[in-house]
Amino acid sequence: MTVQLPFPRVEMPTSDAHGIALVGCGGIGRLQLDAYRKVGWNVVVLCDAVIASAESARDEYFPNADATDDFGAVLARTDVTVVDLAVHTDIRPGMVRKAILAGKHVMSQKPFVETLAEGRALAELAEEHGVTLAVNQNGRWSPHFHALRAIVESGRLGQLVAADFAAYWPHDIHTEHHRLGQDPNLVLYDYAIHWFDLVACLFPEREAVSVYATTARRRGQLVPVPTIASVIIDFGDAQVSILMRASARHEDTGSYHVVGTEGAAALHGGALGGQRVDIVAEEPAHIETVGNWFPDALIGSMAELLRAIEDGTKPATHPRSSLAGLALCFAAIESAATGAPVVPADVAGLYREGDAD
Ligand SMILES: NC(=O)c1ccc[n+]([C@@H]2O[C@H](COP(=O)([O-])OP(=O)(O)OC[C@H]3O[C@@H](n4cnc5c(N)ncnc54)[C@H](O)[C@@H]3O)[C@@H](O)[C@H]2O)c1
Repeated sequence: MTVQLPFPRVEMPTSDAHGIALVGCGGIGRLQLDAYRKVGWNVVVLCDAVIASAESARDEYFPNADATDDFGAVLARTDVTVVDLAVHTDIRPGMVRKAILAGKHVMSQKPFVETLAEGRALAELAEEHGVTLAVNQNGRWSPHFHALRAIVESGRLGQLVAADFAAYWPHDIHTEHHRLGQDPNLVLYDYAIHWFDLVACLFPEREAVSVYATTARRRGQLVPVPTIASVIIDFGDAQVSILMRASARHEDTGSYHVVGTEGAAALHGGALGGQRVDIVAEEPAHIETVGNWFPDALIGSMAELLRAIEDGTKPATHPRSSLAGLALCFAAIESAATGAPVVPADVAGLYREGDAD
């Protein structure tokens, strides 16, 4: 018989004065709108380069809001206090910069930036202009990861010595007709960034000595880019593995086993939420997870930003908090490309063909 521990609470904002502009009404933008509607947040304008996308999202989720294809007009509105940028990483940093300069608080989708220097520059710019910038590493609030962070932060496991993650789901089916399905870094950058970010959260202040990764395409997968990845992160006195099996069929499952000097936490369940986390320790316990990645992780992440704006504090997802996970991710991409282990401290950004020459 194990004791059931409460599922950790999300701290919600208390004010309804935030006016949100959702920019980029594509796949994730619409899921965010669905999440914000469920909570009752105030989306005042929807923006997309394709006006028909902005209008159809507006009609479906926030019929009283405005729809536009003019980002400048969004920034000029005084009722917009938070600009939520759900566009791709190639154009997003420039839009983050413009929103900061317009005095807006900003939510940036992930992966945050393509170089660590650009991430630091955006963090500094937000600080200089007294606005709050957050990165939408919403995986931290996905129920199974939210529970894990709470367990580790409680100290029940002692000092972490190992963490092994695996996810099996058909990402190739979801991206077959999407531009991400053509991205050579789909599995390690676009997808596994949530796992790298989580590892950085679980091992704060610990520098990885090396990252080794391999990627592969599986026979019969629906996209031309790798969907399988195996990563080993070596922290010297702790080891982490991340197994991404993103062209699985007939399943959507995930597991983790996180081991500390005083016990372990283990999950078997859905890839994007889990059902129950068991704590194996002198006093065994478990947490029944509540909800799923969509919408709960999206609510958790935006709630963190809105609450931080109200309190005048730094959100947990402040931009510098994303850089350690990004460095692990960049190291894994370089390792998969070169076949050699990579030291994350030596990595500046996203590896490109020819960088090794
Ligand atoms: N956090 C998560 O769980 C999660 C999940 C999926 C995607 N994402 C991330 O979100 C980003 C977008 O992914 P997606 O799947 O929604 O892409 P998408 O291609 O489906 O949507 C992007 C939208 O942005 C619009 N757009 C392009 N340029 C624009 C501009 N200058 N101004 C306004 N709108 C513009 C496009 O017309 C499109 O509607 C990516 O970085 C992706 O990694 C995050």
